[in-house]
Amino acid sequence: MKYADWLNTRGLEYRNDVLYFAGMNTLDIVEKYGTPIYVINEQMVRERYKKLKKFVNSEYKKNQIHFAVKANSTLSFLRVLNSEGASFDCTSQGEIFTCFKAGISSEKIIYTGNMFTEDDFEFAVKNDVLVNLDSLSQLKRLADIYEKLGKEKLTISFRINPEFGAGEHIHTITAGKDVKFGILEGQAIEAYRKAKEFGFENFGIHQHIGSGIINAYDYEKPTEKYLNIVKTIAKTLEIKFEFIDFGGGLGIPYQPKEKPLDLNVYSKIVIKPFLELLKSEDIGEPEFKIEPGRYLSAESSIILTQINTIKNNGYKLFAGVDAGFNTLLRPILYDSYHHIIPCNKKGKEKSLTYDVVGPICESGDILGKNRELPELNEKEFLAILDAGAYGFTMSSTYNSRPRTAEILIKDGHIHKIREAEAYDDLLKKQIIPDHLK
Ligand code: LLP
Repeated sequence: MKYADWLNTRGLEYRNDVLYFAGMNTLDIVEKYGTPIYVINEQMVRERYKKLKKFVNSEYKKNQIHFAVKANSTLSFLRVLNSEGASFDCTSQGEIFTCFKAGISSEKIIYTGNMFTEDDFEFAVKNDVLVNLDSLSQLKRLADIYEKLGKEKLTISFRINPEFGAGEHIHTITAGKDVKFGILEGQAIEAYRKAKEFGFENFGIHQHIGSGIINAYDYEKPTEKYLNIVKTIAKTLEIKFEFIDFGGGLGIPYQPKEKPLDLNVYSKIVIKPFLELLKSEDIGEPEFKIEPGRYLSAESSIILTQINTIKNNGYKLFAGVDAGFNTLLRPILYDSYHHIIPCNKKGKEKSLTYDVVGPICESGDILGKNRELPELNEKEFLAILDAGAYGFTMSSTYNSRPRTAEILIKDGHIHKIREAEAYDDLLKKQIIPDHLK
């Protein structure tokens, strides 16, 4: 793919050397709204969802795509996906609360927590949210809470750990014997047998093997094993599953030269074997579920940031910007690549190699290492791409830097959807005891 086309897949283009995002001039945006700032392209969110939904529909109609809220929990973002008909995957009470505030109803939510507390279960049961358990030991506790609250038991599901995982970084691989998630094959039958004993009557099953998977063949081994487990449980216990959930993990090409995930291969490895299982075994007509976070959200957002310092220390060139790992944690946490481009490249002929660094007082505050960029000057602006997944949600106030604003672009209009935090917000919840006053 040509570089300009790659930019275009993200709603980005240069017009007279000035960067436009979702049809808006990025220099106008920074002038009006300041930096650093998260900018979301609403149309891109809708397109990504529609494209995936259409694809899955063409393979098997009875499906639900649950957006993984941990990737992006901004209310307006969730409202966009909700209006497209998406379902949601939540990992905490806070995410469920956020979904409710975004107008999402409980039957669209699957609650895949881990290390659930009694309070988590009470919250889920009271709010009629389906729970996807992560440990055998949690089953009786959940059943007890259904009894205590006198509520009818909803579908119960377990997260299976198929022992083969995949992902961009060791910390984003979520299957394997020594990984904390899910239950292993050896306990799977017992889990569903016990669930029946505790009076659960409807069943789902789930796996999520990791995050940032760009090669769909990485799903092959885990899926084979998972579907075998599904088959064994269904046969042994005569269970007809309401749904079979294959989790998220679908990656995106963060680098211009990377090939995107091939949905046809994904189908060959994941959807087709699922369909074959339905044909060959009498396991009912389960819904096909997936839980993509990144695939639906990453490319929809950029961060605009201002260069405040160009430093040549005689050995290396640094472009110091006002976004840091407080704004975007992924580069330091997972060594992740986020493409960085100038908002204005007018009259710039020479290219130089920079480390793009933030203002956080740590040497690891590097947003992009050894980046070839047109010669940069102080006061100019850069765009950090693909920040819509695990960008804002993982941002922090480290170094007492308030979190940024967010804006949403829709049909040539800009909507502010989050105010930047103020210094007061940083201190809001602190209490000074009398003896220190
Ligand atoms: N379902 C479950 C149960 C998950 O744990 C996750 C992600 C997803 C779905 C969505 O995964 P996705 O489709 O976005 O890959 N902070 C890391 C990613 C950690 C994801 C954890 N679980 C990052 O910035 O890459």
